[in-house]
Amino acid sequence: MEQNKPQQTQEKRGMWSSRFGFLMAAVGSAVGLGNLWKFPYLAGENGGGAFVLVYVVLVVILGFTLMLAELSIGRNTNSDAFGAYSKIKKGWGFVGGFGILAGFLILSYYSVVGGWVIKYIVASITGIGADKGAYFTNFITSPVEPIVYHLIFMGLTALIVIRGISGGIEKASKIVMPALFIMLAVIVLRSVTLEGASAGLKYYLTPNFDEITLKVIIAALGQVFFSLSLGMGCMVTYGSYLNKDSDIEKDALLIPSLDSLVAIMAGFAILPAVFAFGFEPSQGPGLMFVTLPAVFENMPLGMFFSVIFFVLVFFAAISSSISLMEVTVAFGIDRLRWSRTTSVMVFTAVMFVIGIGASLSMGAWSGFLIPWIDGNSYGIFDFLDVVTSYYLLPLGGLLSAIFIGFVWGVPNAVKEIRIGSKFRSEKIWSVLIKFVVPVLVFIILLSTTGLLDKIIG
Ligand code: PHE
Repeated sequence: MEQNKPQQTQEKRGMWSSRFGFLMAAVGSAVGLGNLWKFPYLAGENGGGAFVLVYVVLVVILGFTLMLAELSIGRNTNSDAFGAYSKIKKGWGFVGGFGILAGFLILSYYSVVGGWVIKYIVASITGIGADKGAYFTNFITSPVEPIVYHLIFMGLTALIVIRGISGGIEKASKIVMPALFIMLAVIVLRSVTLEGASAGLKYYLTPNFDEITLKVIIAALGQVFFSLSLGMGCMVTYGSYLNKDSDIEKDALLIPSLDSLVAIMAGFAILPAVFAFGFEPSQGPGLMFVTLPAVFENMPLGMFFSVIFFVLVFFAAISSSISLMEVTVAFGIDRLRWSRTTSVMVFTAVMFVIGIGASLSMGAWSGFLIPWIDGNSYGIFDFLDVVTSYYLLPLGGLLSAIFIGFVWGVPNAVKEIRIGSKFRSEKIWSVLIKFVVPVLVFIILLSTTGLLDKIIG
């Protein structure tokens, strides 16, 4: 049973069956609620164009650099996130460990929002009533219904992940992602051609430089990590199922580009419509669930567009949630030597339970607050979001950059990348990963915790 061990393990772990399949899975991981739900409302809360500009600048600096870093670590080691770092250097597994923890926490609340999306597919057909805000609040604060939908979303995610890499994740992504692009394009066309859309376009596309504050920068940084699935070993894990001859330099350019394209398209789908019908862009997480149904209602063929839209969001969400789950499941398979099925079942159960807390924190448990180092106290849902997006993911990204720059060594990483790529960007990447990215992320992270204020006085 133990003969030819590496090959056997790799077979047991699974592999992508094609480059297109891998790309769709990786883009599927990146494109999710982060793009369609978070990005438009963060832009709406943080000055529109100002946020978009900072976001794009950060994606250009960090996206390619860290994406390539994670893919190279994964492909080099063929291991789960924890095993990958510790295989290269004993004692560094904790970097991957942080990532696994982050993914675990993210999925616990991500799945709650995924459940809301399923509810809204149903509600698009059955009707939402006149007061969209009240409908949304009633739904998310009720004790049972959102948890049932959370269970459905978590269950569907588990069903795909149980089927493995090429048979489950890759197959699902190959269908879902192209469909998503087409549907999103339809909604964008509808939104930007509405009468009165131009005010929204202007808000979204003109950066007002006065509005670029530290808060906007921090929000954009967290969003870059979250949206690109970086800083938590997700791309390490996906990279570990790659063939040696894959061109990860190209992939690392393509994935962030497509992800940002979808985020920006989502803004085009939502903000012009919000302005056209005279709604507020800055209403936060409810933007998609409260404003859009009202927008659809005022549109010809509204029900049709509404169903399409929420199905699309669901597709995007599930192709991300499977990647979040895979990070933890791979850890169970590679480190704990569990079977894929056991790993999926155990982790699904625990994440489901944490998610119950996140869901209840919208209503029954809203008084239960957890203090955090930034001086604020958060409900469970917000706590999971804040701690992961603004702290754990940037910290993971920072550590992975330091790991490549000073532990594994840039030349070793370059050797790995060169196996399948010409690596024309070698010089610039080397400087970015070793100096620019760590310094930039460190400074923003420090200011997030408020320490910078104290240091500067
Ligand atoms: N990138 C996903 C989104 O935008 C979320 C995600 C974060 C997925 C981290 C995997 C890892 O929705």
